[in-house]
Amino acid sequence: MSQQEKIKKLIELREQAKLGGGKKRIEAQHAKGKMTARERLEILLDEGSFEEYDMFVTHRCNDFGLADKKFPGDGVITGHGTIDGRVVYVYSQDFTVLGGSLSETFARKICKIMDQAMKVGAPVIGINDSGGARIQEGVLSLAGYADIFQRNILASGVIPQISAIFGPCAGGAVYSPALTDIIIMSEKTSYMFVTGPKVTKAVTGETISTESLGGAEVHTSRSGVAHFRAEDEEEGLLIIRKLLEYLPQNNLEDPPVTECSDPSERVDDILNEIIPDESNQAYDVKDIIYTVVDNKEFLEMHRHYARNIVVGFAKFNGMPAGIVANQPNYLAGVLDIDASRKAARFVRFCDAFNVPIVTFVDVPGFLPGSAQEYGGIIIQGAKLLFAYGEATVPKVTVTLRKSYGGAHDVMGCKQLRGDINYAWPTAEIAVMGAQGAIEILEGKNIGSITDDEEKAKYIAEKEKEYIEKFANPYEAARHGYIDDIIEPRNTRFRIIRALQTLVTKKDINPPRKHSNIPL
Ligand code: HXC
Repeated sequence: MSQQEKIKKLIELREQAKLGGGKKRIEAQHAKGKMTARERLEILLDEGSFEEYDMFVTHRCNDFGLADKKFPGDGVITGHGTIDGRVVYVYSQDFTVLGGSLSETFARKICKIMDQAMKVGAPVIGINDSGGARIQEGVLSLAGYADIFQRNILASGVIPQISAIFGPCAGGAVYSPALTDIIIMSEKTSYMFVTGPKVTKAVTGETISTESLGGAEVHTSRSGVAHFRAEDEEEGLLIIRKLLEYLPQNNLEDPPVTECSDPSERVDDILNEIIPDESNQAYDVKDIIYTVVDNKEFLEMHRHYARNIVVGFAKFNGMPAGIVANQPNYLAGVLDIDASRKAARFVRFCDAFNVPIVTFVDVPGFLPGSAQEYGGIIIQGAKLLFAYGEATVPKVTVTLRKSYGGAHDVMGCKQLRGDINYAWPTAEIAVMGAQGAIEILEGKNIGSITDDEEKAKYIAEKEKEYIEKFANPYEAARHGYIDDIIEPRNTRFRIIRALQTLVTKKDINPPRKHSNIPL
């Protein structure tokens, strides 16, 4: 064979590999409203940046008729490319090849790029669309999953790991995405569950559809397993690109600072009027977030889950930061099990990747009741407390209004190594609200008043006294627990200056194998 013929053969083999399971299956994939594994990579990566590995790998199984079913690449496309010029490693499961099922060689391909990503110090993005373990390969496939899990675990907190779910992801296969930092699901075409509807029916008798058991809606609003619900795959892929704007390549680097067109000294008069006069009236904390961040850009995570707390990424004068904010618009911003878990995971994610944390506090306390206690709010709330206390990144806290009880301590207070703690003049920092406090402190006196009118007057007087003494930021400021009380309209500028000041902040935790966060 001449050199020219050899080159021609290579080109042909490449073209064949690019067809995955063949034209018919590609059509079937499109008919389901799904892109192919390659089309997804084209949107995810910078144009022309993809370098593929292991295109010629095939499986080694000859059982159950698989000897005649060999496809170059074996159902997963792996390699590296760039996003906004920064290197990322990727794998994209190809459903057109044996349902994207995972074989021994398929797993090896993924492990290869994960190992290299760890050496290079670059993120790994996995696009999942698979029928799970390749049944014909039995235990070899299970071992392949375990090889990937082990790498997910060792890479955790070292390089960002992001998972997109654009098709089936069932059985033990769900645990690789679950071990990564972020999960994005596409609406209607993706699902995740440990056991599917058929097994569920057989074991528990429950009849349930695939969508209701593990669709994008379920996992982004009920279980909290997934962080983003994308209308379609393209939106999901663009979310990944956006997300990386806020993250460093690895835990030894800082997140990328960019040019900012939004003036850092911008004063927002609207903030001086945003807090309602009535303390129990709601407002949308996102209005405050959008006002103070660069160019009103806020990438909210877990938008549909535990809406009483808001988390996500934004920039301040080009500096990426993670934002945690109680949401008075939903359940009065109370801290409950779901909100505590959501925020704790986010705080730890930021801390692992050197992203400063900006916290906006307006929290009436922890949600009372047997459902919360039986669900372990003690342990769940402790997660958030632990996450804040353990975090060594710069931490800036702004108390907007309520900061009551244990929730005050949890939400980035000074004693949990809050670096710069501001309060608005509308802040109320106390052990509990006036009504509860007076019921406890004055219970006996109130009980001894028989006339209703007199009783109400007495309660009102005592509550007023309490509010004047405690429902303000000055008591906390007198003790130095608040560094400064700021005019709301200056918030953007004050946060930016705080973050600039803290750029060189160093803090360490004592040496240990690892902490024992209450799981
Ligand atoms: C081998 C598989 C496969 C698998 C699908 N295929 N899943 N081959 N192993 N796990 C093949 C099919 O035989 C078919 O091949 C082709 O892929 C397309 O599949 P269809 O069933 O025609 O597609 P669709 O109707 O869209 O259904 C998709 C599906 C279904 C819902 C994913 O294929 C399915 O239920 N698959 C099995 C899922 C499963 O139980 N996996 C094991 C989970 S346990 P042909 O050639 O006929 O077109 C697991 C353990 C992991 O993964 C443990 C880790 C610790």
